[in-house]
Amino acid sequence: MDLKQSIVDFQQRVNTYLENYLNNMQLVAPKLQEAMMYGVLLGGKRVRPFLVYSVAKMLGADLAIADKPAAAIECIHAYSLIHDDLPAMDNDELRRGKPTVHVVFGEAQAILAGDALQSLAFEILAQDFNAPSLLANQVAMLQILAKGAGVEGMCGGQELDLEAEGKLVSQQQLEKVHRHKTGALIEAAVLMGMLCVKDTPKDIKDALATYARNIGLAFQVWDDVLDIISDTKTLGKPQGSDLQEEKSTYPRLMGVDNAKAYAKKLSLEAIDAIKDIKGSEVLQSFAEFIVTRDH
Ligand code: IPE
Ligand code: IPE
Ligand code: MG
Ligand code: MG
Ligand code: MG
Repeated sequence: MDLKQSIVDFQQRVNTYLENYLNNMQLVAPKLQEAMMYGVLLGGKRVRPFLVYSVAKMLGADLAIADKPAAAIECIHAYSLIHDDLPAMDNDELRRGKPTVHVVFGEAQAILAGDALQSLAFEILAQDFNAPSLLANQVAMLQILAKGAGVEGMCGGQELDLEAEGKLVSQQQLEKVHRHKTGALIEAAVLMGMLCVKDTPKDIKDALATYARNIGLAFQVWDDVLDIISDTKTLGKPQGSDLQEEKSTYPRLMGVDNAKAYAKKLSLEAIDAIKDIKGSEVLQSFAEFIVTRDH
């Protein structure tokens, strides 16, 4: 199975799951529900669900188990983007090729859509897995997602990102920002993928954790690079947004070429960590994709 095909397959799989789930919710606040669906269903690469599914599949899991963590982490990610784009944060008006949620639905609705998607993530992940032997793993997934999304993960990193605006920070500090705001959810995706099977041998667990840590940082370094070398149409979000907001980024710290080289080095380290795991070819190609993608 090649990478492109599995990306498409898993995108479709998580989209179907999310569409069904959202369409079957009780209609309580139609405008808010429309804003949530707009924010989570329209576009996006589905990188985090891909990681949940691919790791689960490599370890021989039933993909029906992986649907829940895959959908849950995408809800957290979509919420993080809706809030990230707000005027009080990055103040962006384009996302996934469309006007941002606050532009279409209003700022208050964008805040609430993010809030509600965050709750929805845990509602989805707390459903009955119908797999009694995985009950402890399900609890572990809930903990991992909560931690990855919260102050020790994404939210903490977003705060550090805001504090670093307009400043010259050290590479060590910038790494901390990136590992939290973006790396944490990517690591959570890989860990939840592993938890879709009852037990994973320690050497494979350690290798996948190293892989996740490296691609997590590489993903955000490359996102910083794209803000400079890509264009708004390809990105589906405003090119140059980081410069506009005086963000601390890797290109700003070390120059575009060094930032590209650093992302590629991290990607190679990720590949190296898992190269001996049977069936890891797709994940290896994915690490390469992360630092060659154009959006
Ligand atoms: C964008 O994430 C924000 C970052 C954490 C870098 P993605 O590049 O995964 O965005 P979508 O989901 O594909 O739109
Ligand atoms: C966002 O980083 C990380 C999140 C937690 C959403 P960015 O602010 O660089 O993401 P984009 O470039 O707006 O997608
Ligand atoms: Mg941001
Ligand atoms: Mg942003
Ligand atoms: Mg960015």
